[in-house]
Amino acid sequence: MSKTPDRESPGSLKGEGSHTGGTGGLWGGRFEGAMAPEMRTLNDSLSIDFRLWRQDIRGSRSWARALCAAGVLSEDEAETLDRGLASVAARLGRRGVERATDEDVHSLVERLLFKEVGEVAGKLHTGRSRNDQVATDLRLWGQEAASRTEGLVVDLLEALVELAERSRQLVMPGYTHLQQAQPIRASQWALAHFWAFLRDRQRVRRAADSASVLPLGSGAIAGCPFPVDRERLRQDLGFRSISENSVDAVSDRDWVVEMIFVGSMIGVHLSRLAEDLVLFSSTEFGFLRLGDGYCTGSSLMPQKRNPDVAELARGKSGRLVGNLTGILTLIKGLPTGYNRDLQEDKALLFDTVDTLTLTLPPMAGAVGSAEFRRARLEEVLDSQLLATDLAEYLVRRGKPFRASHEVVGKLVRIAEARGRSLNELPFETFREVDAAFDRDVHEVFGWERSVESRSVPGGSSTSAIQSQLEEARRHLAAPPGAAPAS
Ligand code: ARG
Repeated sequence: MSKTPDRESPGSLKGEGSHTGGTGGLWGGRFEGAMAPEMRTLNDSLSIDFRLWRQDIRGSRSWARALCAAGVLSEDEAETLDRGLASVAARLGRRGVERATDEDVHSLVERLLFKEVGEVAGKLHTGRSRNDQVATDLRLWGQEAASRTEGLVVDLLEALVELAERSRQLVMPGYTHLQQAQPIRASQWALAHFWAFLRDRQRVRRAADSASVLPLGSGAIAGCPFPVDRERLRQDLGFRSISENSVDAVSDRDWVVEMIFVGSMIGVHLSRLAEDLVLFSSTEFGFLRLGDGYCTGSSLMPQKRNPDVAELARGKSGRLVGNLTGILTLIKGLPTGYNRDLQEDKALLFDTVDTLTLTLPPMAGAVGSAEFRRARLEEVLDSQLLATDLAEYLVRRGKPFRASHEVVGKLVRIAEARGRSLNELPFETFREVDAAFDRDVHEVFGWERSVESRSVPGGSSTSAIQSQLEEARRHLAAPPGAAPAS
């Protein structure tokens, strides 16, 4: 897996002194005593939020420009801060957080800025609070994370379409209640998963859209007292709109919930796909084979070939769903405005995005490696799968469906009592049970005929699947954010 750019670890918290004398530096004036060490451990979040440093610097550079335009900073001061922030970015990019002891990423960036430009750094936080700052940073990060996640979902969608394309000729049992129900094409099974993940892709985009509201300018809760141009800030930082209410802006984490929900939905869909892969690759089903690259052996049993990729993905879905409970519970019952509880939102969001980043690529790879086993599919298809088709044969001869169902039910019972398949019953037996049966009844017992008869849009005939594949391809070809060409 490629290393995501924002995941350098902050290392141990020793060494570099802070310009403000430790973690109380941002607000030390009011306090006499130092923070208790165990409180500090609870309080500090640098190890989690360090990955927001690029967004923090980007937001700060825009903020310095906004303060300058509002007449709070001189051109010179704004220029100095901008240069200083660029140097901080270069330093963090080069050396990471090293041995910083700062409380969080915001205090880290500010301390390094003091090192670069001296006392003028103290002007940057004018009119701003870490409350609107962290909300802005996280929304910037979330939009990028959403687009990376969407790309991974698209890779899986491509793999599913390709599997559907190479399985068009194959008929397999379709299941309800995990009992053989009706024949379908293997493509139909693969595409069933495609549409679920396509909906997830659309959900990721909607979550990114919810994130695209700018909180900066809201201050701690009441709004910025200097005339910053929030509309300019919005354009500068690439947000869709600005928040309408400063109190809401500093505490709104709805988009985080949406993103984590999408993650849990993807987790659930991955888990269901995984379950099918586990079942289908078992000896008992034997419908398909996953590539060696996605299976493991056993240290004890030499014959084993385990579908671990699917089991691991199914397992990961647990934490994706857990994060949803975590974020909803975190927010429930918070009084209006920013509350420190909200610091926990990041660990949950990052875990969801990291888990998806870990799990989607091997699942796409596994689907890409999957091959259906035609001989085995033919072996397991039982003519009882065509009982519905038999009832439909009578319907075509004018018999009401309910009565036809009853007739075929009797035939199934007779076949079962004789230890025969439905298609092995002689014509006379059909005739005895219902006079509407003709000699051509045995034509019902053809897999191709059955799937081809289902040619409605969404059905499993060749033409219906062809249209479905074309529609799927259209969705994949559409540029991000656009509706597919019709
Ligand atoms: N680390 C904090 C968070 O994630 C930053 C905001 C802190 N604000 C404050 N008023 N203490 O929410």
